[in-house]
Amino acid sequence: MTGIKKGIVLAGGAGTRLYPLTLIASKQLQPVYDKPMIYYPLATLMTAGIRDILIISTPLDTPRFRELLGDGSRFGIRLSYAVQPEPKGIAQAFLVGEDFIAGDPVCLILGDNIFYGKMGLDRIVQDFSSGARVFGYPVADPERYGVVEFDKDGQVLSIEEKPPKPKSHYAVPGLYLFDGKVSELVRLQKPSTRGELEITDLNMAYLRRGELAVEKLGRGIAWLDTGTHTSLLEASHFIGTLEARQGLKIACLEEVAFMKGFLTRTEMEKVIAQTPMSSYREYLERVVRDEC
Ligand code: TTP
Repeated sequence: MTGIKKGIVLAGGAGTRLYPLTLIASKQLQPVYDKPMIYYPLATLMTAGIRDILIISTPLDTPRFRELLGDGSRFGIRLSYAVQPEPKGIAQAFLVGEDFIAGDPVCLILGDNIFYGKMGLDRIVQDFSSGARVFGYPVADPERYGVVEFDKDGQVLSIEEKPPKPKSHYAVPGLYLFDGKVSELVRLQKPSTRGELEITDLNMAYLRRGELAVEKLGRGIAWLDTGTHTSLLEASHFIGTLEARQGLKIACLEEVAFMKGFLTRTEMEKVIAQTPMSSYREYLERVVRDEC
């Protein structure tokens, strides 16, 4: 069987770098220009054709995400929720979400990662059959991320977590495709010295098995993470600039659902009727009139 039908958005964490904003709402509920941050990773999964999505967050914030997004029917998707009691690492998502995954392949996206541009993720997700697939994205400050080392033929030699001396400029963004044995492999992992189940160790486990593919993302794609005040502001500027110029919204979940056929025209009209008078509603009205 090929293809991935399930997705996880990991939206917990401590968010200490955004203090004091994160005293009242988690990082992934903060606005990026005109919508909550979590809309962006959700749109990425939906654009890839994934409709069955688990949101993992903290004990305090999970009910807030449920309040914001509900069961997903407004967006033509099925949302479920699970709690990560403490931020013990990104790979822990595959233990918290083990029942949801139920041995199927899954796509994980971090709740504070924004992707923009034609990545062909729908094709990559549809064609996925086994192993693990991650991406490599050139950044100016690779030492802040997991970094891919390639040999001269472009084969992956290693991935190092936050290396003081990075062996390339290719960081691994927070978007990962894994096959159905992912939870089993995380179970074999030991926490790192910082006490976390590291996603880089999981990727390395797949690499050692000869089952890791790394796909380089091209220049036409923007990958933003929004973990600091500066990067959050930059992301808002980026989205605001494009939306103002084109008159089109980025990561408008109702629009994505309509475009993908997750919502019929009649369902979309019902959703609009429930939307308060706002520029967001006006935009949705334009979308159903096919003016976008
Ligand atoms: P980070 O940015 O590494 O950590 P953080 O969000 O806790 O922020 P800070 O460093 O400022 O304290 O996390 C990346 C993403 O992964 C983010 O969306 C939060 C999420 N995450 C979890 O949900 N659980 C975890 O255990 C970890 C490590 C991260």
